Amino acid sequence: MEKDDQDRIKQASAARGTGSTPPYATSLKLAALAVTLVSVATATGFLAAPFLRPQEARPAAEAAPGTQADEGTPLFRGWPKPDVALVLTGEQHGYLQPCGCTEPQKGGLARRYNFLQTLNKRGWPVVAADLGDIAQEASPQALLKFKYSMKALEHIGYTAVSIGKNEVDLDLLTALAEAVLNEAKAPRPLVANLLNKDAAADLVKSWVITAATNDGPKVGIVGITGPELAKKLQKNGQWQFDDENKVLAGAIQGMQAKNADLLLLLYQGTIDEAKAIAAKNPQINVILCLSRESEPSSRADQVGQTTIVSVGHKGRYLGVVGAYRTGKADQPFELRYELVELDPRYETPEGKDNTNPIHGLMQEYAEKVRDGNYLAKYMLNSLHPLQVTFPNAEYLGSEACKVCHKDAYNIWKNHPHSHAYETLKVRAKRPTLRQFDGECVKCHVTGFAYKTGFRSEEQSPKLLNVGCEECHGPGSLHVRDKNNVQFREALNPWKSKEGETTKKHEDRMFSLCFRCHDTDNSVHFDFPEYWYKKKTEHKNKDE
Ligand code: HEC
Ligand code: HEC
Ligand code: HEC
Ligand code: HEC
Repeated sequence: MEKDDQDRIKQASAARGTGSTPPYATSLKLAALAVTLVSVATATGFLAAPFLRPQEARPAAEAAPGTQADEGTPLFRGWPKPDVALVLTGEQHGYLQPCGCTEPQKGGLARRYNFLQTLNKRGWPVVAADLGDIAQEASPQALLKFKYSMKALEHIGYTAVSIGKNEVDLDLLTALAEAVLNEAKAPRPLVANLLNKDAAADLVKSWVITAATNDGPKVGIVGITGPELAKKLQKNGQWQFDDENKVLAGAIQGMQAKNADLLLLLYQGTIDEAKAIAAKNPQINVILCLSRESEPSSRADQVGQTTIVSVGHKGRYLGVVGAYRTGKADQPFELRYELVELDPRYETPEGKDNTNPIHGLMQEYAEKVRDGNYLAKYMLNSLHPLQVTFPNAEYLGSEACKVCHKDAYNIWKNHPHSHAYETLKVRAKRPTLRQFDGECVKCHVTGFAYKTGFRSEEQSPKLLNVGCEECHGPGSLHVRDKNNVQFREALNPWKSKEGETTKKHEDRMFSLCFRCHDTDNSVHFDFPEYWYKKKTEHKNKDE
């Protein structure tokens, strides 16, 4: 499945055309921040009250929102109440919401909140931490989303987060300053081996100690950037990392000196790197490391007494480590692990949005996207591949095709593609206003961000919905000169080629569909079914 997806993605992106990749990556490159970061290894003094957060310091536990989730689920079967439950997440990659357009959608911060409420309801003491890569790769909304994610984690009651490549790419200091500065209860960013902290000194720490209850185990949480990632980030020149083994030994000593009972490492490194760390530092009880694949393993790895887990990408899963005191000096804790899938059972029931503060945050986020006119930030006037060859080709809208292609038009008109924008505008809830969100609009309209393509509902009303030119390209030259064979051919790169097998031809058309019907947004997509049976095919019989 995973492998299959990768092949599909490769195939699809290969077909994506040239000249159309927005240059965000370059424009958002680490700005020349004159950041010198103070060595934290020595900064043990930061262990002040704000980072020690007993249960009392948290917002009072709200009434469980009455999700259907906790009743009769097979979760934690046979687990007694743990002395502390570590809730572990990471690599959210910007997904605030359940990922995708088709059931079964998974993940989302609101569901995460509801899940935590089910643990509260069980009376379990919880400590929550995140590995980082909360942000997505470059996108006009990445910074705003990071900020709202951090707000959500604060509401959920997270103690700490680590920092990944995506946060660094985002312009780490700006991101952290927006998300953490002046937010006493914001989760604490931890990277123990980040050198020369200076400007980041108040923001990024080495480790924290927390306890879910007064008599609960003290959990020491430390963040480390592994050597592979450190090397990549060092290439940027701004960020320097100390040797992890040296720094970690000091951090462990520091945490133990403050009576930490249970040690959790947020490790921005691979599973193999994590295993090596565990072998060298057997005092660490739990390591959360990067996932090799998007789907996480439901099992933890064990190296000596250290439990190593990873939770996959996009926040669709989270890991729960239950820790039980044994009373034995040589092995003070027994650990259990369960991977939890944030499926629709954790959705807030209809009409109960006020039981979950994340919905309000998400609506606020959507309003910010609208009010900040983020949609305009996508409009880079990049060229559709057809416009590379024919710079004067313009988008006209599907009505312009109707006169000459009646059959194709009628088939399209009865197809969901012809009201895809309306769907977005009317059916998207929690939050609403998604017609202002480029991350949604891009697949629900025609010629998004291309020269003369979709701009906004007001500026380009003819290009709402997935119209003819979304698949065929801008058609003005052809409409003005229907007999020009060159123009016609340019509009139909999908036509079967001489000597091409049906399979090859279908694979090419599939790559067109897969731009939008990807594995997140169209879970059940099957080319033959969607093309032939669901009547997307529209071979033109007039003319
Ligand atoms: C003035 C009439 C006219 C209009 C308007 C028109 N077309 Fe065509 N189109 C034709 C003719 C004639 C052909 C060639 C015969 C055929 O394939 O149907 C053609 C062929 C095509 C083909 C097949 C090309 C090939 O070589 O396989 C595509 C795709 C196409 N048109 C798309 C569009 C789109 C999209 C629009 C609207 C933007 C449009 N047409 C508007 C007349 C028109
Ligand atoms: C990568 C392209 C893509 C993006 C991005 C995208 N969608 Fe979609 N959306 C689709 C496709 C494809 C379908 C149809 C899926 C199917 O029926 O298999 C769809 C369907 C939908 C539907 C109808 C679902 C139903 O039950 O019929 C809604 C509502 C929707 N999308 C909302 C959104 C929202 C909100 C966003 C932004 C958070 C978004 N979409 C982003 C491609 C996308
Ligand atoms: C979802 C993508 C998509 C949309 C939307 C779409 N088409 Fe097509 N169209 C295709 C593909 C793929 C082919 C190639 C089919 C083949 O060769 O079997 C095609 C083929 C055609 C052809 C050539 C058919 C033939 O073999 O004679 C015409 C003409 C055409 N489309 C016109 C239109 C018009 C007009 C619209 C809008 C009313 C439209 N298309 C909307 C994907 C699309
Ligand atoms: C630009 C993005 C985009 C492309 C490209 C695209 N689609 Fe879609 N498709 C959508 C969206 C969005 C919807 C949901 C529309 C709605 O429900 O309002 C959808 C819905 C559908 C549906 C209806 C599904 C259902 O169960 O009701 C079918 C069938 C479909 N697409 C087939 C295709 C095929 C086949 C291709 C390739 C030839 C294709 N699409 C290319 C965006 C796209």
